[in-house]
Amino acid sequence: MLSVQQQVPLLKYNTLALPSTAEYFCKVSSESELQEALAWARQKQLPITLLGGGSNVVLASDLAGLVIYIAISGIELISEPNQAEKLIRVGAGEDWHQLVLYTLQQGWYGLENLSLIPGLAGAAPIQNIGAYGVELSDRFHSLETIELSSGQSITMTLEDCEFGYRDSFFKGAGRDQYVITTVNLKLSAKVNLCLEYPALQQYLKAKTLAEVTPQQVSDAVCAIRRSKLPDPTEIPNAGSFFKNPVISSEQVETLKQKYPGLVSYEQADGRKKLAAGWLVEQAGWKGITSSGVGVHDHQALVLVNYHGTGKDLLSLAGDIQASVLDKFGVSLEIEPRVYCK
Ligand code: FAD
Ligand code: EPU
Repeated sequence: MLSVQQQVPLLKYNTLALPSTAEYFCKVSSESELQEALAWARQKQLPITLLGGGSNVVLASDLAGLVIYIAISGIELISEPNQAEKLIRVGAGEDWHQLVLYTLQQGWYGLENLSLIPGLAGAAPIQNIGAYGVELSDRFHSLETIELSSGQSITMTLEDCEFGYRDSFFKGAGRDQYVITTVNLKLSAKVNLCLEYPALQQYLKAKTLAEVTPQQVSDAVCAIRRSKLPDPTEIPNAGSFFKNPVISSEQVETLKQKYPGLVSYEQADGRKKLAAGWLVEQAGWKGITSSGVGVHDHQALVLVNYHGTGKDLLSLAGDIQASVLDKFGVSLEIEPRVYCK
């Protein structure tokens, strides 16, 4: 039975712990409850905001209309048990990291590099989560959605989702038009490790293991992440605040003449991705605090909230963007979804 509350504080529903209030709020734990919530909002002509773990949102104002927290659970193997390919069907409300641990316990491999990413499974396709050399799109089969305007169920394939680096159809033409209810992933009983990411390679090399297992890769990723990234329950944050900018190799060569330490990675299309954390650190922002918000002292790409507001955070982000543009001629794009009236 759907229960809608009024004027609900969202502080504990966003990992930046920003003060914001939902005009109306409900949790849905099944597709029928979701349909009920959509019909309720449609009848009242209210806008809808979808929320998962709140780990990639900047709530810089109150949210008008109905905020729907997606709590649809379930993890199911849908391929034949004796098949090497493990096709799994995951409810949008499953916790992502718990899902990764569960699949490893079952011997369904492929998600180990994506360990310890906060949030829920249903949000993973929105920005095509990625870490340590693997992106969701590498393990993706399809997903199931409900179209907000019509309530119709629509299944989308890998092609339909238009995944890119921290990008998808749901950030472009499909923005705010679909609720993802289920994500179908393609894992494997066969071990096929991705160990190319420099920090991961170095960490495992130092351990001098005879043979590396998927569980050890997951443990290594967790250890590296814990050493760099602040735990949102201790220091509120939303992970990387900016995307790593992708620019032409000519521009990189010009910058390298002036800044020999510039960190860049080759892309498949010949362009290069810069480490935004390096740019922000070199521009002098690492560890600073201003108006209750700041830049993390271990990872300059992570903005943190001590006791500020979303507007304070966006103001700091704007100052950082301006100074990086001024120093390097490179534009930084904000990664989390900003909600601001
Ligand atoms: P939310 O923040 O609740 O929502 C994000 C967006 O998705 C919102 O626009 C929301 O409306 C929409 N949305 C949510 N659920 C649904 C749904 N079911 N259907 C349709 N739309 C929906 N990201 C990475 O890619 N790699 C990392 O390594 C990484 N590390 C992080 C580390 C930290 C400490 C933190 C705090 C964040 C990190 N992130 C990382 C970002 C974040 O964890 C991911 O983007 C995650 O997928 C967000 O999930 P969520 O459930 O919290 O989404
Ligand atoms: N660096 C600095 N100074 C800093 C931070 C980083 O010089 O303050 C340098 C590092 O020394 C390294 C390079 O930048 O040479 C890259 O740093 P790191 O490996 O920490 O990764 P990142 O590029 O900062 C990206 C993702 C993370 C993801 C990691 C691991 C983006 C925007 N961020 O961070 O994702 O976990 O790689 O794959 O792509 C997120 O999206 O929220 C997120 C945390």
